[in-house]
Amino acid sequence: MKSIQITTPAKQDKYDISFHEDFKALGSELKTQIGNRKYILVTDKNVHEKTALIGHEFEVPENQKVVLLPGESEKKWLTIDKILTACFEAGLDRGSVLVAVGGGVVGDMTGFAASIFMRGIPFIQVPTTLLGMVDASIGGKTGIDCEYGKNLIGSIQQPEAVMVCDHFLETLPDLEIKNGIAEMVKHGVVASEKHFADLEALASQDWAQVRAKIFELAPASMNIKKTIVEADEKEAGKRKFLNFGHTFGHAIELCSSFEIPHGRAVAIGCVMAANYAAERELCDWDLVDRLENIFNKFEVDLTCDIPEEDIWKAMGTDKKKFGDTLTLILPKTIGEVDYYDVTL
Ligand SMILES: NC(=O)c1ccc[n+]([C@@H]2O[C@H](COP(=O)([O-])OP(=O)(O)OC[C@H]3O[C@@H](n4cnc5c(N)ncnc54)[C@H](O)[C@@H]3O)[C@@H](O)[C@H]2O)c1
Ligand SMILES: [Zn+2]
Repeated sequence: MKSIQITTPAKQDKYDISFHEDFKALGSELKTQIGNRKYILVTDKNVHEKTALIGHEFEVPENQKVVLLPGESEKKWLTIDKILTACFEAGLDRGSVLVAVGGGVVGDMTGFAASIFMRGIPFIQVPTTLLGMVDASIGGKTGIDCEYGKNLIGSIQQPEAVMVCDHFLETLPDLEIKNGIAEMVKHGVVASEKHFADLEALASQDWAQVRAKIFELAPASMNIKKTIVEADEKEAGKRKFLNFGHTFGHAIELCSSFEIPHGRAVAIGCVMAANYAAERELCDWDLVDRLENIFNKFEVDLTCDIPEEDIWKAMGTDKKKFGDTLTLILPKTIGEVDYYDVTL
């Protein structure tokens, strides 16, 4: 068959993750970043009420603000529709920009809306959870959940900037810090024994110390994610490694009707994947112990009463499944993972 091949030039989407020492500095930089473009700012109720950026250091007119209800249940079409409607109502055009100020949910929703509004406009990520800072705001994955599974509808569009301020962590509940830690531990297993060991050392301190010091380890996590997504933006190869714990984790979220939050589900998923690997002699049982210990020390709740067969059934809906083959990411050692195909 005759075909015409079109080669698109390599995408040169470069963006900075910038660090800001307080909300005043962040607010001022955000104004500069937006410039004189029209924008819609998306946030959620908790972030709006509990943190002192929006309406304090950064004023947003009411008709340029979309305030979502907190939580995973907002990752749905209706939310996208709501954001897009706000964009039209406020007269945004292709020269406009969306701003996400929130956790992974707000970031994913804003990114998805930005990627389809007038076939795509830029967006800025201002992550307000630890999980958002170290993981969700980097790499451009966006998506909504549906009855068939998690993040099954979405797009990849890189943000034009990621703006980080650790003051957001002051109001973040302990459980949300733990959800972020789960992704940081994942980064360690996937790519850096040193990062894992640094997290282990912090895990032996008391919780007040953990809260006070966890952000010091955030740049290492961000760098791991950055290096992997730079090498493989569209997840053709090594970006899949970041899915360690996620095939099990997404199934756990789905089976719990999203009662178990993403970070905790990933932690449970990492331990399940490690057990699965150890049972097949793909890694030592020591690795499983280290992983369980670090989560226990950080008091990440690993309890899960969902029958394993239900989790496997839900894994059948995963994006990493092609035909009957599901590609799991399994650990070899702390700092190295590999692909492993399973026939369902
Ligand atoms: N796009 C990606 O690459 C990627 C990566 C990892 C996770 N995710 C997605 O991110 C989502 C999880 O993100 P999350 O853990 O940030 O959850 P989240 O966005 O639901 O936020 C967690 C909770 O913290 C509250 N909150 C946020 N910031 C706060 C602050 N500074 N102070 C007080 N409360 C605050 C929120 O209102 C919410 O109740 C999942 O949907 C997951 O699929 C996406
Ligand atoms: Zn994740």
